[in-house]
Amino acid sequence: MLIDALEKMAMVADLLTDEQRKRAVLMQVFYKVQKENNYLPEDKLREISEELKIPLSEVYSTASFYKQFHFMPRGKNIVCVCVGTACHVRGAPKVLEKLEEEFGVKAGETAKDLSVTLETVGCIGCCGLAPVITLNEEISGEVNAKKLKEVVDIVLGKTNVQLTS
Ligand code: FES
Repeated sequence: MLIDALEKMAMVADLLTDEQRKRAVLMQVFYKVQKENNYLPEDKLREISEELKIPLSEVYSTASFYKQFHFMPRGKNIVCVCVGTACHVRGAPKVLEKLEEEFGVKAGETAKDLSVTLETVGCIGCCGLAPVITLNEEISGEVNAKKLKEVVDIVLGKTNVQLTS
């Protein structure tokens, strides 16, 4: 079965032109660069463009199509507030307001000291736990004042306890 899959992949690879192969590696390169830098710096995008001989505009437009790639430095911690309907109804605007106040940034911004980036998302799929936030991929549901303080303390380095889910 594995051999079949490998043979099929090889057949597909044979059908690709050099141009298609170059574009196929773009995503992997983006992931690698973002992992190393926490975002996609302009000079790296220029380097990718030159190395792969793909116009910079095309490199940029491909990367910008995907929400997971970022073009500005991001914080060491990523706090994301769900602002989907269920979370909105159950207090997400107040949660967001409190976090903006605590971190001194607006949604979509990164603190100057790069301690945190505050983001919003439409729905993360656990509406039954609304309101929901995430801290670096960890989900915290039924967010209340105590949980918000936990998140703030973790981000500001006042504690190293784990986030209560
Ligand atoms: S609306 Fe927030 S998790 Fe669905």
